[in-house]
Amino acid sequence: MIHSCFVVAIDGPSGTGKSSTAKEIARRLAIDYLDTGAMYRALSLKALQSGVAPSDAAGLGTLAGQLDLLFPQPGQVILDGQDVSKAIRTPEISGRVSSDCAHAQVRTILVERQRQYALGRSCALDGRDVGTVVFPHARFKFYVDCDPRVRARRRVAELQAMGVHADYDDVLANLVERDRLDSTREVGPLRRANDAILVDTSHLTFEEQVERILSVVRAGA
Ligand code: DC
Repeated sequence: MIHSCFVVAIDGPSGTGKSSTAKEIARRLAIDYLDTGAMYRALSLKALQSGVAPSDAAGLGTLAGQLDLLFPQPGQVILDGQDVSKAIRTPEISGRVSSDCAHAQVRTILVERQRQYALGRSCALDGRDVGTVVFPHARFKFYVDCDPRVRARRRVAELQAMGVHADYDDVLANLVERDRLDSTREVGPLRRANDAILVDTSHLTFEEQVERILSVVRAGA
């Protein structure tokens, strides 16, 4: 039985299923869920709307400080009073978010917001630097990884199910490029924390991924 507030940090590259896994874990544990990637995506959308370029560190930092952002329920993102849950997932946003989020000015502000979000509540957060930078003392840390070819296949299937045509080679190239940008940036790069438990989802079903993490949290609680 868990008596005090705790953080479940789930990091890993794009397309490993960590967001859906974190959301489901939060649901089953009846704790809150924060998709930190959605915050960076919302910033990119705001920057696009405001004409701020991905190279404009100061402009992006200012926007990050002014972001009017709400997460009324898991998966829902409200920016400036508008539901942008879908608008932050377009290829245009995916194409620029890795550059926008690499600036120290941006990360300092959004990392602080992520810390504030978790104050006084138990929650699961997924991202790239949750276990290394945002909550280096999180009670539970996981690093979810997956063969890029499996990730690309799953992503193509997801897009096709949504009626969107997707080319496997393009999807694979985009995933690999985003991983490269996210893991080579200077501030808060994607990397596995020394004390994070590795969960390789290449051969796991969704239920197995969820159970693997949940069993650790329940045992350590
Ligand atoms: O998880 P995602 O694909 O929605 O994340 C969008 C982008 O934000 C991705 O390029 C990585 C970046 N990101 C980050 O730098 N740090 C986080 N904690 C979460 C996401």
